[in-house]
Amino acid sequence: MSTDASTRSDDTEALERALGPLPADTQAIKAVEDSCQVPTYAKYPIALVRGEGSWVEDADGKRYLDLYGGHAVALTGHCHPRVVAALRAQAGRLLFYSNMVYSDVRALAVEQLTGIAPEGLRSVFLCSSGAEANECALKIARKHTSRMRVVSMNEGFHGRTLGALGATGIAGYRDDAYPIPTQHDYVPYGDADVLAETLSDDVAAVILEPIPSMGGIRVADDAYFRALRSLCDEHGALLIFDEVQTGFGRTGRMFFGDHVGVTPDLITGAKGLASGVPAGVVFVREDLSQQIAPGEQGTTFGGGPMAAAAIAATVAVIVDEDLPTRAGETACALWGALDAVPGVESVAGRGLLLGINLDRPAKPIVRGLVEAGVLTGTCGGNPNQIRILAPLTLSQEEALGWIPTLERLLAEEPA
Ligand SMILES: Cc1ncc(COP(=O)(O)O)c(C=O)c1O
Repeated sequence: MSTDASTRSDDTEALERALGPLPADTQAIKAVEDSCQVPTYAKYPIALVRGEGSWVEDADGKRYLDLYGGHAVALTGHCHPRVVAALRAQAGRLLFYSNMVYSDVRALAVEQLTGIAPEGLRSVFLCSSGAEANECALKIARKHTSRMRVVSMNEGFHGRTLGALGATGIAGYRDDAYPIPTQHDYVPYGDADVLAETLSDDVAAVILEPIPSMGGIRVADDAYFRALRSLCDEHGALLIFDEVQTGFGRTGRMFFGDHVGVTPDLITGAKGLASGVPAGVVFVREDLSQQIAPGEQGTTFGGGPMAAAAIAATVAVIVDEDLPTRAGETACALWGALDAVPGVESVAGRGLLLGINLDRPAKPIVRGLVEAGVLTGTCGGNPNQIRILAPLTLSQEEALGWIPTLERLLAEEPA
């Protein structure tokens, strides 16, 4: 990390002046978190305290190349100077006021968002998470169509709140939470024939991740997306793309529909939208937006000044640094190199949403990578897949620099 030691200790000292002493090392941090939190997360045994670009550093001073981006959040890299400057400035100005009043930074954020939105979807609702964005989109679809049924994908993940969970096809996430309050049908991703058999004139919406991620990364062919659009039109159902992971340039285009020439009726986004400050968004077809009455959607924190400053800075960085193009180019180099690695059977995805399919379970390799200072992820839907959700600012040198470590681990670990 290039930040000099004095700036780094200045930040920690300022934080300790405000908060009191922080737990000093990984063991101390782990002990407190493990004893005070609900034990719901399976965590890597590391405690991160700072980040810069594609790199993060733990409490003991060890550095890691972050190819996981804090679960696809660090789109602009860690602590992009422009995002940090916007947040520092806004924090000194106004931390919060709700949607009961207008806000200059919110005005800027929504203007920028509508500037990058697909044509026809230039109206936004701001909220605070991906699950909330999906709940809002489903609610809009049900209200607009006066229908209750929703069709989603077996491989889909849409969040942990009950409505979003209802749309989540991956049974492991859903089973304990039954009964789900909405009427959902699940179909296999990429199969237009099954979708055609399932869709009928009582379906409010079809919701899908254009590229499933938690369910195992793979991409349906372009014809599937065109069939999806026309089947929805035929039955009067709205098409919702959950772009919580694929949106804002991750796949090499601003939104997934740009790859296949299909525009959905609603797009949901979150994760990288505000570079790590909680934020979600629904891009709404303009004529649908006009039908939403005051009070029909609402949230306290959505579009608050800190989130808005972070969104405005993030979108500015994505556009000004042309991160979608950069991500596409970096991904090309990475794919080429991965294809040649013994033990890698195939590579799937688009841009920097990438699944490396191994000839063996991915978990031991991912654990070995963490020990070697490289953060990647696994997914429930395909136990042999390593998931890469890297910052779009990843350089080609960084993208290729860890491959010898992967090769070594695959050579050491039995298939
Ligand atoms: C595709 C997708 N949709 C929705 C969500 C839910 O987002 P959040 O955790 O912000 O509620 C996630 C989270 O991983 C996701 O990957």
